Amino acid sequence: MITTRGGIVTGWGIAVPDKVVTNDDLSVTLDTNDAWIQERTGIRERRIGGTTSQLAIEAGLAALAKAGRRPDEIDAVILATTTPDQMVPATSATVQDGIGITGGAFDVNAACSGFVYALSVAHGLLAIGAERLLVIGAETLSRITDWDERGVAVLVGDGAGAVVLEAVDGPGQLLSWVLGADGSLRHLLKCDHGGYLYMDGKEIFRKAVRVVVDSAEQAIAEAGLTVDDIDLIVPHQANLRIITAACQRLGIPEEKAVVVIDRYGNTSSASIPLALVDALDTGRLEKGDHVLLTGFGGGMTWASAVLHWGG
Ligand code: UT7
Repeated sequence: MITTRGGIVTGWGIAVPDKVVTNDDLSVTLDTNDAWIQERTGIRERRIGGTTSQLAIEAGLAALAKAGRRPDEIDAVILATTTPDQMVPATSATVQDGIGITGGAFDVNAACSGFVYALSVAHGLLAIGAERLLVIGAETLSRITDWDERGVAVLVGDGAGAVVLEAVDGPGQLLSWVLGADGSLRHLLKCDHGGYLYMDGKEIFRKAVRVVVDSAEQAIAEAGLTVDDIDLIVPHQANLRIITAACQRLGIPEEKAVVVIDRYGNTSSASIPLALVDALDTGRLEKGDHVLLTGFGGGMTWASAVLHWGG
């Protein structure tokens, strides 16, 4: 990657609703059970509630506090979401107002790949002169879920994760990025206006493992690294079995994968930043580490990036 101006993450934070919904809670109204959900997905519980903008604002403020930055020092807020509060305006406008950011605001919708897409776009803005950006992934999938449809209801959760990205001279932390899409597969995961989330779980599962492995291998190679150089993998949290299969095929020990799906379920654009922040807060990701972010989702879209943590 050719760049004379890169970025580093200087702050991070998350927000999740207070309401915890366990698998047992769901089995009261659905023909499902804790054993099936844990075995097939790795999910134990999820958080439900709030609006996308509320969660994004809370996560964004936490990231700013950690970075020691004021809202008026941020050139733009980029919000990755597939569950905006409204069709128009973009939810990032509400976030801009709620946090008091004086810079620009726009949404990115690339479904569950959204945060890696947003992070890649943010590095482009830094390369052309932005100083500081707030990148957020926030979702309220519960709002577009049919709670009588067990195939989807057991999977989803709400939440948000955010990072502050600051410009540095030189290449910074982002060593490579791979963004992909295949719109001919858009029927596999969709939500029409006013409707509910639909997914062909089996087909997505099959395709997901392939695109994650292919894009991750490409990102690792473009970073000039091998799989053995990867210290940590932060995958999209859609299903623990997808994470396990992807790690096996990549040849990355599963212990290097950050897993938060047990606590939060699938939170789409929020899942990678929720996992990233978990790794940071638990000391699993340190300066000098090579971290692979990789996601896939509706569209279909996919995205992988390799970061040299701390630049
Ligand atoms: O963020 C990206 C988008 N989404 C994904 O990545 C989802 C990817 N797909 C998946 O995670 C999995 O395909 C699911 C978790 C959705 C489903 O797991 P599966 O192993 O593919 O299960 P299945 O659909 O093959 O169903 C197996 C059985 C079926 O019963 P029979 O036909 O074997 O008698 C289903 O009817 O499990 C039944 N089943 C359930 N049972 C209890 C399906 N859903 C449930 C449920 N509780 N919630």
